[in-house]
Amino acid sequence: MKIIGGPASQLLASRTARALGTEPVLSEFNRFPDGELYLRIADKIENEKVTLIQSTPTDSDFVSLLQLIDACEGAAEINVVIPYMGYARQDKKFKPGEPISARAIARCINADRVFTINIHEKSVLEYFPCPARNLDAANLMGAYIAGFGLENPMLVAPDEGAQGLVKNVASGHGFDYDHLQKTRLSGDTVVIKTKNLDVTGRHVVLVDDMIATGGTMAESIRMLKAQGAIDVHLTCVHPVLTRNAALRLFNAGVKDIIATDTIEKAESRLSVAPLIAEALSGSSTLS
Ligand code: R5P
Repeated sequence: MKIIGGPASQLLASRTARALGTEPVLSEFNRFPDGELYLRIADKIENEKVTLIQSTPTDSDFVSLLQLIDACEGAAEINVVIPYMGYARQDKKFKPGEPISARAIARCINADRVFTINIHEKSVLEYFPCPARNLDAANLMGAYIAGFGLENPMLVAPDEGAQGLVKNVASGHGFDYDHLQKTRLSGDTVVIKTKNLDVTGRHVVLVDDMIATGGTMAESIRMLKAQGAIDVHLTCVHPVLTRNAALRLFNAGVKDIIATDTIEKAESRLSVAPLIAEALSGSSTLS
C-alpha cells in the first residue's frame, strides 16, 4: 500500500509509513501565480491501494485533499485519513438558513474508505458517501499522561461534551476524572460554572478533543487553580490553537500543553501514527 501525505500531514504520513515499514510517496505542493493550489504526486499510481493522509484545518488543505483524491484516479482502492476534519463542529443547523458544513465537506470525499480521529461529532461519519470510521486517540493520551509521573493526577474535561473522552483517557490507568460545565457566550468567550471538584493539592490534567481559541481551557485553568490545584496541564487531540490561544493559556497559568500530531504544531508531541497504522493493518482500534 502506498502512503501519500498531504501538505498538512507530512510528518504524520511519514510516521505512519514508517510504522507500516514503508516509505511515503513524495509529492510536490505549490501555488500558481494567481494563488491557486498546484499539486503533483511524484510516483505513478496504477492499480494499487493508496492511503492519503491529510488534515483539513484550512480551506486550502481541503482543496489539497480533493486534488490528491483526483490525482489517484488510477488506484485500485483509496483510503482517506482525515486526522483533523475542519468544519466538523458545524454538524447541524444551529440557526435557520445555515448549511450543515460538515455534510457539505464529507459529501465531496470520493474514496473507498475514510478514517477520522476523534471527530467532534460521530454523526458526521454518516455524511460520507463511503464507509467511514473514527479512531480514538484516548489510549495513547492516557499512556502519555501516565509517563508524566504525576502523583495521583486528576483528569478533568472542561465540558459535558468531553466526558466520554476523559473517561476513556483515564480508564486503564486508574486516574480519577470529572468534568466541568461550560456555557459558550460567543466564538471565543465561555463561562465555566463553578464546581467543587476537590482538586486542592492535586495535579490536574485538562482533557478535550480540541483547543481552538483557548477560551474554554483558559477559563477552566483559572477556576481549577483558584480551587487549589497544584498545577494544570492541558492535553487535547487537535491543537487548532488559533489566534493567540497559546498566550491566553500561558497567561491563565497552564503548566504545559500537549497535543497529538493530527495538526502539526510545536505542541504536537504525541503521534497518532500507531493508531492509523494499526487501523490500516486491519486491527481493530476502530470505534
Ligand atoms: C467544543 O465543544 C470543543 O470540544 C472544544 O471545547 C472547543 O471547540 C474549544 O474551543 P475554544 O478553544 O475556542 O474554547
